[in-house]
Amino acid sequence: MSATSTSSGATIIDGNALSAQLRADVMRRAQALKARGITPGLAVVLVGDNPASQVYVRNKVKACADAGLHSVLERYEADMTEAALLARIDALNKDPSIHGILVQLPVPKHIDANKVIEAIAPEKDVDGFHIASAGALMVGQPGFLPCTPYGCMKMLESISYDLRGKHAVVIGRSNIVGKPMAMLLLQKNATVTICHSGTKDLKAMTLQADVIVAAVGKVNVLTTDMVKPGAVVIDVGMNRNDQGKLCGDVDYEGVRAVAGAITPVPGGVGPMTITMLLVNTLESAERLL
Ligand code: GUN
Repeated sequence: MSATSTSSGATIIDGNALSAQLRADVMRRAQALKARGITPGLAVVLVGDNPASQVYVRNKVKACADAGLHSVLERYEADMTEAALLARIDALNKDPSIHGILVQLPVPKHIDANKVIEAIAPEKDVDGFHIASAGALMVGQPGFLPCTPYGCMKMLESISYDLRGKHAVVIGRSNIVGKPMAMLLLQKNATVTICHSGTKDLKAMTLQADVIVAAVGKVNVLTTDMVKPGAVVIDVGMNRNDQGKLCGDVDYEGVRAVAGAITPVPGGVGPMTITMLLVNTLESAERLL
């Protein structure tokens, strides 16, 4: 079970429980690949000592180990040159033991992140950030989906939510979450609105929504008065509130009383992002069969 109904208010979509199910499947499929001589491998590259990035990459490497995937963590000093990083990516592109390459963002300012992303071979782009992956998503061709929106779609699937004809409002227009999220919702025949910092009346938009995806990175972007009763709310935010407590973009306690379903923070989208990275890495290796 990955969703829990509560007597008062929303179904809670449990990202930990859904992740456990999906990771068990990854583990089974990784075993099957290994029996055929292929161990799925992920390379995680971290440049510099951003504390949050260090936690993220550690969690990604641990998740690989737990699921039976091979992983390598390459850590470099913050003064690594762009040329040296591009050379490492080139070597990983050619390394047959590596099926997925992830360069943790942000990279230090003297390195052009776009250049780095475009240097990764599209067939190893398990983050789904390459222009080829973004383009494939745009035109409905097969390619790697960015992990966070992919995880959000799995969460909607887990409650058997039919998006056809529904109004989905995405708050945030990043290349990593907002834009690909909108594309995926569109693919499922939702009517999609993308809201952002220039949106004039956010509440007027969200009150019309059957599905709301909040992906801004700011506390209380979505409050109870902004949600239509019964709407499904997906919270991509990962913030600290004034008390230092981990929280999303959504006023969870308030909104859960009116929403039909909601994802918590922590234990919602966060674990799903890493799970979909494992899925992408596994599928990259499976393409070699
Ligand atoms: N930085 C924050 N989120 C991500 C992510 O999903 N992938 C990478 N590579 N860097 C990130």
